[in-house]
Amino acid sequence: MGKISRKSIVINGAQRHVVYNSEKDSLANVLRRFGLTGTKIGCDKGVCGACSVIMNNKLVRACVIKMKKVPEYAEITTIEGIGTPDNLHPIQMAWITHGGAQCGFCTPGFIVSTYALLLENKSPTREEVRKWYTKNKNVCRCTGYKQLVDAAMDAAAVLRGEKTMEDITWKLGEGEEYYGSSLPRPTALAKVCGTIDYGDDIGLKMPGTVAYLAPVMAGVPHARIKSIDVSEAEAIPGVIKVITAANVQGSNDISFPAVVPRQKGQGAPKFPLICDEVVNRRGDIYAIVAAVSTDIAREAAKKVKADLEILPSYMNVLESFATDALQLHPNVPNQYLFAPLYKGKDTEEIFEEAPVVVEGSWHSQHEPHLTIEPDVFQGYWDEDGMLTIMSKTHDLYGCRDELAPAIGLEPEMIRMVNNPAGGCFGYSTISNLFALAGVAVMTINMPVSMTLTYEEHMHMTGKRSATYSNGRLACSEDGMIEAVEFDVAMDHGSYAGTASIAFGNLISVPFQGYNIPNIKALARAGSSNHAFTCAYRGFGGPQIYTMSEALTDMAAEAVGVDAWEFRKKNVAVPGDLTINSRPYLTYTYPQLLDMIKVHYDEFKKIADDAKKEGRHVGVGIGMGGFNVGKGFIDHCENDIELCERGYINVYNTWQDLGQGADIGTMTHVLKNLEPLGVTPDKVRLVTNDTKLAPDSGLSAASRSHYMSGRALIEACNKLLDAMRKEDGTYRTYEEMIEENIPTRYRGHVDEVGYGLDPCQDPNTGEGSRFKSYTYGVSTALVEVDVNTGKTEVLKFAIAVDIGKIGNMLSVEGQAYGGISHGIGFALSEDYDASDKANNMAYCGVPSCEMIPDDIRVDYYAGDPRPHGPHGSSGCAEVFQACTHMPVINGINNACGVRIYDLPATPDKVKAGWQKLQNGEDLTPPKYFFGTEFEDELEYIRENPI
Ligand code: FES
Ligand code: FES
Repeated sequence: MGKISRKSIVINGAQRHVVYNSEKDSLANVLRRFGLTGTKIGCDKGVCGACSVIMNNKLVRACVIKMKKVPEYAEITTIEGIGTPDNLHPIQMAWITHGGAQCGFCTPGFIVSTYALLLENKSPTREEVRKWYTKNKNVCRCTGYKQLVDAAMDAAAVLRGEKTMEDITWKLGEGEEYYGSSLPRPTALAKVCGTIDYGDDIGLKMPGTVAYLAPVMAGVPHARIKSIDVSEAEAIPGVIKVITAANVQGSNDISFPAVVPRQKGQGAPKFPLICDEVVNRRGDIYAIVAAVSTDIAREAAKKVKADLEILPSYMNVLESFATDALQLHPNVPNQYLFAPLYKGKDTEEIFEEAPVVVEGSWHSQHEPHLTIEPDVFQGYWDEDGMLTIMSKTHDLYGCRDELAPAIGLEPEMIRMVNNPAGGCFGYSTISNLFALAGVAVMTINMPVSMTLTYEEHMHMTGKRSATYSNGRLACSEDGMIEAVEFDVAMDHGSYAGTASIAFGNLISVPFQGYNIPNIKALARAGSSNHAFTCAYRGFGGPQIYTMSEALTDMAAEAVGVDAWEFRKKNVAVPGDLTINSRPYLTYTYPQLLDMIKVHYDEFKKIADDAKKEGRHVGVGIGMGGFNVGKGFIDHCENDIELCERGYINVYNTWQDLGQGADIGTMTHVLKNLEPLGVTPDKVRLVTNDTKLAPDSGLSAASRSHYMSGRALIEACNKLLDAMRKEDGTYRTYEEMIEENIPTRYRGHVDEVGYGLDPCQDPNTGEGSRFKSYTYGVSTALVEVDVNTGKTEVLKFAIAVDIGKIGNMLSVEGQAYGGISHGIGFALSEDYDASDKANNMAYCGVPSCEMIPDDIRVDYYAGDPRPHGPHGSSGCAEVFQACTHMPVINGINNACGVRIYDLPATPDKVKAGWQKLQNGEDLTPPKYFFGTEFEDELEYIRENPI
């Protein structure tokens, strides 16, 4: 276990004596043990920069500096030494004002890194700042980097004396209202100071005796468990227990009931918390070890022995849908979800007669979420005997109800609390990880804490589902779309997770904004041995736009019409219907196209000039947005309470994963309680604890602002009504108490199958599941180095219609962040379930220099959402649903290489370029999904439901 050593170092100006394990401890471990938990550990491999500190005037990543290598009397500066809440450094203030801290997990590392940069270079250019962050491996997954560079530039100006702290401190403008302003989020101060405690910080600071957990991962994609031997592991001193499936007191199944009417087999594949018969992916676990320390738990985990019979594995649905493939789950065929779509006339004849037909086959990858923080959770019995699970989740109540039967406890006995979260983007809509805290507490009757390594985090969490599609589009010679056909197969991996919801989007999201008069399509989904499917921003959108926005681009090329012109010719106008044969909520796509044209034309001019110099620079467009809400039964509650001294308590479970639930809640309260003149310092957020706050539903699908906003209007109106006196003034808290008037009120919103139909017709796909939508058109200027195949996005612009904006800083955060994920999806991000997929660098997380500094976001201001709070809608998904396609189409425009298999990594682009030089065709062969498209549709027609 290593020797214990001691040395003196100077931390933030004070000499400290450090006792450490000379073999194991890194500088980051030691700083954190000292309580300096502003230094975060993300990757623990030197590739994310979350642990950045300054050692002897040099920026270092503390996770890879072994304590034994730290010089005696080394001078260390951590985030805690840079500024404090009552004495902020200009970098910290600039970070707050520019919205640099979203989840905030990367923030201390970035601020320390910026501090080190400004010590070396007082007047860096934006390019130098971007280079610095890239060189020093500072990775941010939330912001898209632009705000961080803005903040660094402002802070540098203050340090040079060109601006004052006052200049860079946000203030409400004269006559400005909070709603729509850039009021910084309430948690920003703690985030920039490194004082907010995330999961692992809480784990380090838990009182009393805690059992630390380590998982035993299968490490193979498919195997039968013949036996498990825990004896050697349990004999290790300090091990409390090795917990297996036999200890799970409930059903040990968190499978999500499918919401797709057309299914084969029975139900969804069983999703065990701890496997006892079969492992279906390398991230499945068959035991967890509880020990007095994480080190001991991890040592013991290596000693748990399982006799595994390796079974054939299918890492994609092309293999698992083959007729001779083994059925992966009892009672559920490998291919089991189906949804047809028809609109207009029979497409077969149209395709036969159409003058122009384009077609192709596409694959989109299992996109990993790549948060900087790996997953962490705690569990304990609270003072009232409730099993308390502290984790990060998008859905406290939903996950409580999901995991309760699996672990064998009534939901009412479970208290779910969200820890401050270092990002998420969708993977924690599923409870497979933190449910283990419940299993462990119920087994060993002790408080538990578990911090996954980044490798475990990568393999154990869900991913965006991969898809395979065949599609074709017919149009007239002058470029009017006549018909579309497509057949798409979603690979939901080892377990369905929430695949059935994303699945529905495959036949409702594509070709958004177009008038497609005739369509015939089929969506199918099923199992493989890859990662299971969970939510991710855009939720089916990026997968299906990969096909639809390539087809429209190819059609424009085929008829010799400019890509923008082609879209403008085919854009939906009043009277046109969606692919689901329903009117659009608003017909703003023509205006969005006009808005983006300014940028598109500018980019085209740059590209044309560059092409004359022999460079391969091109411009691409992507048109498409997303729906708002869950699309079926939805429910949301928020409470508001008047308290002493004019304080307002807000109670909700608008889960904050870094997207800004805190400022979202605050903004609505300030707006709704304007008659009381409430200011931000008087609003207290009592949120994300099911014992204290009501069920506000899922924080996903862009629904939270839309749903909680409306619930808060109702709650606040009830409070105002109760407070209002006859003369129109308002009672104080004391007067309310005096008169025995309740001070806490609930607002709630129910949506049941909103839209024009309760759901899409299972025989035709007609219908609308949503009441609100967001729309977008984006364009990218890209350059391809055809010698290396490397693509650089030089500039990016998007025009969006998201209704009225509630908080500009949050919306910008979603905009730049979503676009950065879109670019990552286009160019680099992939989880291939291999041994190497254990860190974010291998999986393609975009660095600062990979995301353009020039990102423009234009907001269409014409259409306040009629059903949304104060005319608002949600916004997150629109910034990622289709923002990869301008890049993919831009590559084609730059060098003629059409990418059919995402991501467009340099090797694929280079191979495409070489094929083109050899006169070869890049069109891939059609995918086969086990049955023919027409045969499957024929079966559906003959078997209506
Ligand atoms: S670089 Fe140290 S935690 Fe990632
Ligand atoms: S704010 Fe940078 S990772 Fe979340």
